[in-house]
Amino acid sequence: MSSPCFISGLGMHLPRTLVTNSDLEHIVDTSDEWIRTRTGIATRHFAKADEPCSVLAYHAACKALENAGMTAQDLTHIFVGTFSGDYNLPTTSCLLQDMLGLKGLPAFDLAAACSGFLYCLETARAYACMYPDARILIVGSEVTTSRLNFEDRTTCVLFGDGAGAAIVTGQGNPGRIKVVDAMLKADGSVGGLLTIHGGGSACKPVLGQSIGPEYFVEMNGRDVFKHAVRCMVEISGTLLERNGLTTDDIDLIIPHQANIRIIEAIGKKLNVDSDKIYVNVDRIGNTSAASIPIALTEAEASGRIQPGMKVLLTAFGGGFTWASALLQF
Ligand code: ACO
Repeated sequence: MSSPCFISGLGMHLPRTLVTNSDLEHIVDTSDEWIRTRTGIATRHFAKADEPCSVLAYHAACKALENAGMTAQDLTHIFVGTFSGDYNLPTTSCLLQDMLGLKGLPAFDLAAACSGFLYCLETARAYACMYPDARILIVGSEVTTSRLNFEDRTTCVLFGDGAGAAIVTGQGNPGRIKVVDAMLKADGSVGGLLTIHGGGSACKPVLGQSIGPEYFVEMNGRDVFKHAVRCMVEISGTLLERNGLTTDDIDLIIPHQANIRIIEAIGKKLNVDSDKIYVNVDRIGNTSAASIPIALTEAEASGRIQPGMKVLLTAFGGGFTWASALLQF
């Protein structure tokens, strides 16, 4: 049996540049009307050169620490979910550890694309079980724009940059949000539908050779859409069922913010009214691993989540990976 695990603090950070659909009309052959109708996105934030993944992560982490009433020195571990880290090496979690002045603290990156934050949460839950005094910083941070092909209108209009963070604690330091349960899934057999091949050991960069579209997000949007809806609906239902709950018991669902049509389809299949589903994709776009913690931080800070509420999180991303988590505020 697992021991209790908590979230003691939440924080988020968005880069300073706001990009509208009209701005994108100057870059690719698209329109505000097409983007709004097909995706629900109106604006997103793009990071500048002085805002790499580690810097976004650092700002979100500082806010989560403040929200938890802790300092960096209280932390015991750092996990960062990202597919768009500063470098291949050093890892973004090690860069973040250095920025926080925490020499010696274990730190690693976790690659599960848009499910990265929930994969970090479940990993932290296991660590909190092993080390009840653990105070683990988990961060979803992405500069997705560093891996977008701005000549491909089918992908570049969908994503944005940002970071969200949480402090996960074990039973030695109970926090205000209980992590009741979580579940992770993956299916590598269909991973080819959403890829960034370039730069890996099977698709090596060659010195002096220019890079091609394989170095950026490539996606079969229609198929990804179908898998995303089916997987998030299935895993949410399974998680609720194994906790003896139905969607009627849930006060708010926070799905991965990829596309309003995916979110609406999830709501329909789970038979949940739209007022019980949190949406910020219109303002922030798809920030991959940062999507869930940004939405969660916003929802609590705005008062949309109140003490006593049950909140269901669900995410889907490249790999494919998908996940769900149940929180009790
Ligand atoms: N602006 C204008 N026209 C466009 C654009 C654009 N940005 N992008 C595509 N089009 C055109 C296409 O070229 C096509 O034109 P054609 O009919 O002349 O060939 C037409 O619009 C329709 O294209 P479809 O791909 O059929 O459009 P669809 O309705 O399927 O919407 C979309 C595309 C938005 C990508 C949709 O498939 C989708 O949302 N998929 C899920 C993608 C997603 O959210 N992935 C992330 C989830 S996982 C993760 O977060 C990593």
